[in-house]
Parts: sequence; C-alpha cells; structure tokens
Amino acid sequence: MGVIVITGGSRGIGARTAEQVAQRGMGVILTYNQHPDAADEVVRRITEAGGKAVALKLDVADVGSFEAFRAAVLAALRQSWDTTTLAGLVNNAGYGLFNPLESVSEAQFDGLFDVHLKGPFFLTQTFLPHLEEGASIVNLTSATTRVATAGVAPYAAFKGGLEVLTRYMAKEFGDRRIRANAVSPGAIRTELGGGLDDEFEAMLAAQTALGRVGEPDDVARVIAMLLSDDGAWINAQTLEVAGGYII
Ligand SMILES: NC(=O)c1ccc[n+]([C@@H]2O[C@H](COP(=O)([O-])OP(=O)(O)OC[C@H]3O[C@@H](n4cnc5c(N)ncnc54)[C@H](OP(=O)(O)O)[C@@H]3O)[C@@H](O)[C@H]2O)c1
Repeated sequence: MGVIVITGGSRGIGARTAEQVAQRGMGVILTYNQHPDAADEVVRRITEAGGKAVALKLDVADVGSFEAFRAAVLAALRQSWDTTTLAGLVNNAGYGLFNPLESVSEAQFDGLFDVHLKGPFFLTQTFLPHLEEGASIVNLTSATTRVATAGVAPYAAFKGGLEVLTRYMAKEFGDRRIRANAVSPGAIRTELGGGLDDEFEAMLAAQTALGRVGEPDDVARVIAMLLSDDGAWINAQTLEVAGGYII
C-alpha cells in the first residue's frame, strides 16, 4: 500500500480522511498550516491505532514554498517508508468566508483563489513526477457549485473551477493511469467559516433528504474509497457527498 499526501489534515474532513486512509493500511503525510498541535494529535491517534503518519507544514497559498515542501515530502517518504513515490494526493486544505458579492475585497478574492484553485493546481503539478502509475488525486470542492448560496460567490466559483480542473487532470494524466476525482461535500460539521450555529444547522438539515448535516467521517470514507482499489474505475467525476441536499 502506498503513501498519500493530504493537505489540511490537521482538522475537520482532512483529519478524519487521514485516519480513514491509515486504517486501510496506507501511509499518510498530512499537512497543517496554523495548527501544528492539532496535526500532531492526528499523527498520535494514527500511530496509536497501528498506522504510520507524518505531519508537515504547508501554506497552500504560497506556491513559492512548494519546492521546499516537495523536498520535505521526499525526505519523509525515504525516511519513514523507504520509497520516493506517492499513491495519491488529496487537495483538501481550505477556508470559508461569508461576504456578499457586492462587498468582497480584492484581497479576499485573491486569498480564496490562491487556496482553492491556484494552490491545488500547482501542488498537483509539483507532485506529478512522484505519483505512481495508478495513483489517485482527490480534490475537495463544494455543493455550493451546484446550489447558489448567497455570500460565498468567489469560494464557490473557484471550487467550480477546481471541478473543471479535475476533469483536465483526468484527461492529461490518464496515460499514466492516474485518476482524478472531485468530492463535493454539503454542509459538514467542522470549524470551516467559524462552524455552524444551531439555527443554520437546523435549516440545512431541513433542506437535506436524510434530515441532518454531514459529519467529517461521511466525507472521509468516500475520499478513502476513491484512494483505494475500490475506486479504481471511477475517474473524472464530481461526487456530491451531501445526504441529498436541495434535490
Ligand atoms: N465543512 C463543510 O461544510 C464543507 C463543505 C464543502 C466543502 N468543504 C471543503 O472541504 C475542505 C476541508 O474543509 P473542513 O470543513 O474540514 O475545514 P476545517 O475544519 O476548517 O479545516 C481546514 C483545514 O485546512 C487547513 N488550511 C486552511 N487554510 C490553509 C492554507 N492556506 N494552507 C494550508 N492549509 C490550510 C487547516 O490547517 P490549520 O488548521 O493547521 O491551519 C485545516 O487543516 C475545504 O476545501 C472546504 O472548502 C467543506
């Protein structure tokens, strides 16, 4: 079983994905940005459960740091797994921002663009030479690409761009049997954008066929499936994982 890089693995969906992936016998390199302690805690839980994980610092918005990050990943691969290749990459790191379109600043627009579209583009490009034949790329997008949700226009637009980019990755990497899919969560109970208050959560649950918001594990299990052989014939898709949100 190979090793997977998961960005934003210190909290929320990324942290649960790291644990689900490790449970299936894969190695995990998870990244953190501002919360090294949370990342260490994820590594501790994985190690305690008999898996293997390493946490590295990465700011997905800082493309200039990707060469140094690549070197750190390769060093970790050699040291902990005696390999130089990766079985997968999960572009998960992200943040939310509520602001009506009319008052979004250029800095807010650029910040969201850097993390949700530019970062995944160049991080994937950086690791392409190290992905094994048959490797799997998973890009985290959002159900806001399907359902227009007032206040998240740039976020949703860049996630939509990431869904298009996912299909281009599948097209251009297919000759190396590398798959690329997008996982598009509905509302998930994490700290994204400051988390969900009770009233907002109740409204979202009422709009969901299965009658609740999602948990990080609901999404993490699907990502882990796409990284495993169970997902070997799924390619170039956007899988909405939302319990039937506004259908
Ligand atoms: N939660 C939802 O309802 C929902 C719905 C649809 C899509 N999504 C998408 O799912 C993904 C994960 O979201 P989540 O809900 O798990 O969020 P979360 O609980 O807030 O966790 C975000 C993770 O991303 C990392 N991160 C944030 N900015 C970063 C940056 N500039 N560089 C590197 N890492 C960065 C954080 O690292 P540190 O904490 O170490 O800084 C953290 O590990 C995101 O792409 C999000 O857009 C979430």
